[in-house]
Amino acid sequence: MFNMYNRRYTGSKYKLMEWIRSLIIDNCNGKTFFDVFAGTGVVTEYMINDYQKYIINDFLYSNEVIYKGFLLQKNYDIDKIIKIVETFNNINRTHLEENYVSVNFGDKYFNKDDAKLIGKIREELESDIKKNIINSKEYYILLSSLLFSIDKIANTCGHYDAYRKIDNIDSKFKYELILPKKLNKNQKVEIYREDSNILAKKIKADIAFIDPPYNSRQYSRFYHVLENITKWEKPELYGTALKPKEENMSEYCKSSAPKIFKDLIEKLNVKYIVVTYNNTYNSKSSSSKNKITLKEIKDILDEKGDTKVFDKPYKFFNAGKTELKNHKEYVFITKVEK
Ligand SMILES: C[S@@+](CC[C@H](N)C(=O)[O-])C[C@H]1O[C@@H](n2cnc3c(N)ncnc32)[C@H](O)[C@@H]1O
Repeated sequence: MFNMYNRRYTGSKYKLMEWIRSLIIDNCNGKTFFDVFAGTGVVTEYMINDYQKYIINDFLYSNEVIYKGFLLQKNYDIDKIIKIVETFNNINRTHLEENYVSVNFGDKYFNKDDAKLIGKIREELESDIKKNIINSKEYYILLSSLLFSIDKIANTCGHYDAYRKIDNIDSKFKYELILPKKLNKNQKVEIYREDSNILAKKIKADIAFIDPPYNSRQYSRFYHVLENITKWEKPELYGTALKPKEENMSEYCKSSAPKIFKDLIEKLNVKYIVVTYNNTYNSKSSSSKNKITLKEIKDILDEKGDTKVFDKPYKFFNAGKTELKNHKEYVFITKVEK
């Protein structure tokens, strides 16, 4: 069964969490944790026993469904879910008709027959929720499970900016379930799919965890296949990577990033602000050059209150597999005064 950390996701903080958690526990107090750019959700997942209330947000549709699948505390019938999954896994996929997924992504991101089954499952889940055969929590569990199962076997290097050009893609798809989290009775979770800077105005919390994108790579373009299958509006697709029209293009990936970051920090109504950062700034590839500098982050946070900076060499977490010189991970913790 899948956990939230079982995802290939650019910038996932999973490997850093032991260090990050200890810094947060040692330097911040409070009961409410606001994961503003939650991505995979692994930060919230790792800290799930530490707070009473979690506010988790990301502007991607697929991430919202995944948070609801794992974290929404509503009733579901696990026997019914297991039966549905078994029924799909027993379908002979070679005999299925073509559908949106197989026509667009078959023999590209997935084996053709796998793509037919993926499209079939997605269509049936939509029909099951409309006919009240499954409730909303069951729908989120089943849809997140489909996203994790797809992501596990996709013919990519982890994101969907391109697929690997190979002649025969093996049939590997198996529909597997996520493992939803059971929280204590006194714990609460609020889930949002909003632009961080708009949401920040509406939320009051003790600790805000800030992990935005820092380079020009847009998450909505990287994970467009998962977004498309989640939304299920079957749009027309363009280019060799089969992307839909642009949506959710982040200002954090543009030259406006310092301004937008400052705006966010000013709006946050919290006691502590925790910001993670890594200095890919000197990277040779222009798409991985950082849009905000370390100094800009520090200056903006200093305006809000006393700010401590912690760092670790990147190779500490990645067994030295980096070519970037002096590559470091940073955590800023600000005790808000204003
Ligand atoms: C570096 S990732 C976060 C990774 C996350 N901490 C984890 O460990 O998985 C940045 C996330 O910010 C989201 N994002 C980018 N711009 C956003 C915005 N303006 N509002 C909300 N989310 C945004 C992206 O979709 C992406 O998931």
